[in-house]
Amino acid sequence: MELPEEYKRGFKDFLGIKIDLSKRPLIPRPETEYWVQWFINQDHKEKMKCLDLFSGSGCVGVAVLKNIQDSICHFGEIDDAFLEQIKINCSDINSNRYRIIKTDIFSNIDEKYDYILANPPYVAKSRIDEVGSDVINYEPHIALFSGNDGMDIINNFIDNVKDYLNEGGYAIMEFDPQQKDKIKEGEFHKDQFGEYRFVVIKK
Ligand SMILES: C[S@@+](CC[C@H](N)C(=O)[O-])C[C@H]1O[C@@H](n2cnc3c(N)ncnc32)[C@H](O)[C@@H]1O
Repeated sequence: MELPEEYKRGFKDFLGIKIDLSKRPLIPRPETEYWVQWFINQDHKEKMKCLDLFSGSGCVGVAVLKNIQDSICHFGEIDDAFLEQIKINCSDINSNRYRIIKTDIFSNIDEKYDYILANPPYVAKSRIDEVGSDVINYEPHIALFSGNDGMDIINNFIDNVKDYLNEGGYAIMEFDPQQKDKIKEGEFHKDQFGEYRFVVIKK
């Protein structure tokens, strides 16, 4: 068992951006890269404001800020070390364009957004044996697990997300393909491997 290469190196490339991993957040995944690129390719409201909730390294919001001109992004994350990590990854971005918020899901979110981008912890604790040992041993469990079926945070997010969206806005949430039938609403999309991986919830 060995420390993952990305932690040894200290960074991971995410859509061509060097994401620092010195505080050991979740290593950004290609499936996430795929839907973030999908989002970047859509038409957006001018000067749009988005929330990257469950930010971890901040890879999602940083990619938005670097690819969508005049966009504003707020980052929401519960873990203090990862809040520091987001700050590091935003160090070359104008501070007028982002805000970093310590929050338990929506607890400290007090604004509405045009878009909410979310990669919540969604691995089912009951499937822990199927997760690779490098992941279990080295990646933060707070970033992976959420209840026995992995649905605790997802359910809370879906129940509340529309309260934080502007009219005409939408949220994108990543999930495990096995969870698709438990997610009651939204437009489902596949990832680059042909698996259902993200849902778009419109207001
Ligand atoms: C799956 S990781 C996603 C990280 C990053 N957005 C990415 O896509 O690589 C989930 C993140 O949510 C954070 N998190 C876990 N529970 C949370 C909660 N209740 N409220 C806010 N953030 C939470 C974890 O610390 C972790 O950084």
